[in-house]
Amino acid sequence: MKPVVYSAMQPSNEDLTIGNYLGALLHWIRMQDNNECVYCIADMHAISNIKTNKAIHSSSLDILALYLSCGIDPIKTIAFIQSHVLEHCQFNWLLSCYAYFGELKRMTQFKEKQLKAKEPINIGIFNYPILMTADILLYQTNIVPIGKDQKQHIELTKAIANRFNNMYGEIFTIPQPCISEHGSCIMSLLQPNIKMSKSDINKRNTIYLLDSFYSLEAKLNKTITDSDRPPIIYYEPIFKPGISNLLELLACVGKTNIAQLEIMFEFKAYGCLKKDVISILNKLLTALQTKYFSIRKDEGYLNKIIYDGSIRARKKAIITMNKLYKVLGFSRILTNISNKH
Ligand code: TYM
Repeated sequence: MKPVVYSAMQPSNEDLTIGNYLGALLHWIRMQDNNECVYCIADMHAISNIKTNKAIHSSSLDILALYLSCGIDPIKTIAFIQSHVLEHCQFNWLLSCYAYFGELKRMTQFKEKQLKAKEPINIGIFNYPILMTADILLYQTNIVPIGKDQKQHIELTKAIANRFNNMYGEIFTIPQPCISEHGSCIMSLLQPNIKMSKSDINKRNTIYLLDSFYSLEAKLNKTITDSDRPPIIYYEPIFKPGISNLLELLACVGKTNIAQLEIMFEFKAYGCLKKDVISILNKLLTALQTKYFSIRKDEGYLNKIIYDGSIRARKKAIITMNKLYKVLGFSRILTNISNKH
């Protein structure tokens, strides 16, 4: 049996970013041949951040089309929308009875959102890591390819899975995060000491996969570097975050290593580095966008992938739910009924 890989992205009103691509998608694609991959569009997660809107399905199809144009193969891989596999929410409740208030309160993402919140914060944002735990454990996942920002959530998933296993026997596979050394935390263009985020209100901080060449060029030309004199190009994320971010983009997209780039750019100006980053990203985005615009037009095709994906995902999810109902002592009549549909 091949190892199970599970990961997900949230649909929102924004497109995916180069951070989503380098931190996660690139690894999802690489893993498709040797693993049983389950890639989800986490729409239930998304409603904790955005107001429900009629466009959520359409945003989910945008994400699916981006997955496909980046190289996700819906035959090799199960691609589906989270809300279509009802077991995610059902399992979320069961797990919430095995997670502690204190451990959720310590989640960095929650604390950050709480600090920034101008309005009362919803319980979905607080519970969010439990739903992630449910997502992962439902498929008996071995590997979770993610960016660095999700690491703490996977640690929590492991803690909850171990707690449950200690109580009931070996019910869950304990998942391991897969976080690459470079590209797992692409930084904001104008504030290179914070993570690039698709929901950043200043769009000039973020490179979107669907950015035009002009927008890409304008954003990268304005990227914050530093005032070192003479300007020197080397990788030092703490003291030279802007330059390090550009090196990281160039290394990950161009599949070179950073040490080689440092030699190549030893006596060069910051402008040269920006020019090369613009050129390599433009190549990547142009190819991807050509595929995207052709795939996105065909909603029948996208909906068919989602339909097949949810059936394949649900078959797996039901196995875990049956197992859980049994160990928790619930009647399995209902899960057996849903098994037949
Ligand atoms: P989301 O939608 O915020 O991000 C999707 C993936 O992209 C990675 N990522 C980045 N990587 C590098 N640099 C960045 N600037 C950057 N920004 C985002 C994220 O780490 C993530 O891997 N909660 C998740 C979705 C989710 C999930 C799951 C993931 C729901 N259930 C189960 C794994 C397993 C999220 O909001 O990702």
